[in-house]
Amino acid sequence: MNDERTINIGLMGLGVVGSGVLRIIREKARVLAKETGRNLHVKRILVREKGKDRGVDVNPAILTSNPDDILDDPTIHIVIELIGGVEPAYAYAKRAIQAGKHLVTGNKDVMAEHGPELLRLAGERNVDVYYEASVGGGIPLIGSFRSDLVANEIHEFYAIINGTTNYILTRMSREGAALPAVLADAQRLGYAEADPTKDVEGIDAAFKLAILTSLAFRTHVDPGAIYREGIMQLEPADFRYAQDLGYVIKLLAVGRQDNGRYQAAVYPALVPQAAPLANVDGVYNAVYVVGDLVGNVMFYGRGAGSEPTASAIVADVIDVAHNIISGVTNRIPYALDAAKTLKPMAEIESRYYFRLWAADRPGVLAKIAAVCGTNHISIASVIQKEADPVDRTAELVFTTHAANERAMRDAVGDIEGLDVVKRVAGFLRIADVGETA
Ligand SMILES: NC(=O)c1ccc[n+]([C@@H]2O[C@H](COP(=O)([O-])OP(=O)(O)OC[C@H]3O[C@@H](n4cnc5c(N)ncnc54)[C@H](OP(=O)(O)O)[C@@H]3O)[C@@H](O)[C@H]2O)c1
Repeated sequence: MNDERTINIGLMGLGVVGSGVLRIIREKARVLAKETGRNLHVKRILVREKGKDRGVDVNPAILTSNPDDILDDPTIHIVIELIGGVEPAYAYAKRAIQAGKHLVTGNKDVMAEHGPELLRLAGERNVDVYYEASVGGGIPLIGSFRSDLVANEIHEFYAIINGTTNYILTRMSREGAALPAVLADAQRLGYAEADPTKDVEGIDAAFKLAILTSLAFRTHVDPGAIYREGIMQLEPADFRYAQDLGYVIKLLAVGRQDNGRYQAAVYPALVPQAAPLANVDGVYNAVYVVGDLVGNVMFYGRGAGSEPTASAIVADVIDVAHNIISGVTNRIPYALDAAKTLKPMAEIESRYYFRLWAADRPGVLAKIAAVCGTNHISIASVIQKEADPVDRTAELVFTTHAANERAMRDAVGDIEGLDVVKRVAGFLRIADVGETA
């Protein structure tokens, strides 16, 4: 369809999300046509393998494995990129914008690494780039940071933005199970990939955090510079002790502003049981935001899946279609140029939890307390948990008051060097994230 009442779409990718998008766009096109008199029409679809059965009703004549059929077609107004990965998705996205096409994408890798460049280019070419689905699937986050919360200075936010790790941590917490067994189960059920590295090492969360931090603090954030710790070192004992102390363990992506600098880090942390984030379980995602005007807000929902993600993509497409109909672009500019620098992890302040195995005899606690004192670490609590009579060792669990990260690391290093200490078995930050009243 090439008449001026039709808005033509080139869909790149017809996988989990693309097939959901195709189905929903057809339904929503009827509503848009009724409201505006314009038709939304998926003109071409790019795939790798044209003959594959995709479980979705599609005219084989519109399938192509040649990206030029979309990128060089002057009648296509909107490109939806749902290929995934950086290349060739980034090259296609750039070409689409250069050719004067609007871009809707769910690609966190491209937007975290090349988002600022693509957004700048889109401004120059007078086209729109929308990427709501790139973080948190169907949860409205990008639009909220970009426009709904724009009157606020965002002080900080805490996000659970990786469903795979949240599923694993939830099950470890509930069942007392060890990580390898739960991970294997998650792989069997399709919640974790065969190679789970990107999820369990916090890489996926760091990419999403880069996107959110850029928007929240209006500055360019390099995903590679984000401090990151994964979940593989967590043991069932950590979950038991966290619970005894009134916490749960969550993999958090944290963004915080601090005097012209910002913190962006991904790490597993103890979250107070009374905090709303503590109850975000399974594959659900949530972002808890603290703004100067709005106070505390939490966004919660399904962070992945065909329909929730397609919901975000199709909403973006409809927004772009409205912009085309109204003859406007870049209604809400992305200003990611604030001169803010990343605060080194060594300079952050936090409360900490650590546990260790030490000789079960008098005077040991005094030695550990002395090391903490020398490093300016103030111990908040200490509990003796287990004892091994054969080995004559005992397990001690400590929490601290707020301390500097470098000082805490130095203290743990010194404690590990004590002759009475066998090993420091767990080390986690305690997140003072808002609690319910
Ligand atoms: N799945 C989710 O729940 C979810 C949630 C949020 C965001 N996202 C993002 O959405 C995007 C798509 O994810 P998905 O789960 O739908 O992926 P997917 O199921 O793997 O589908 C990818 C699609 O892209 C096509 N494709 C891949 N490489 C291509 C290439 N070089 N040339 C042409 N076509 C190519 C594939 O073609 P064939 O079918 O022929 O192989 C397939 O149709 C990713 O950026 C992902 O991070 C996904």
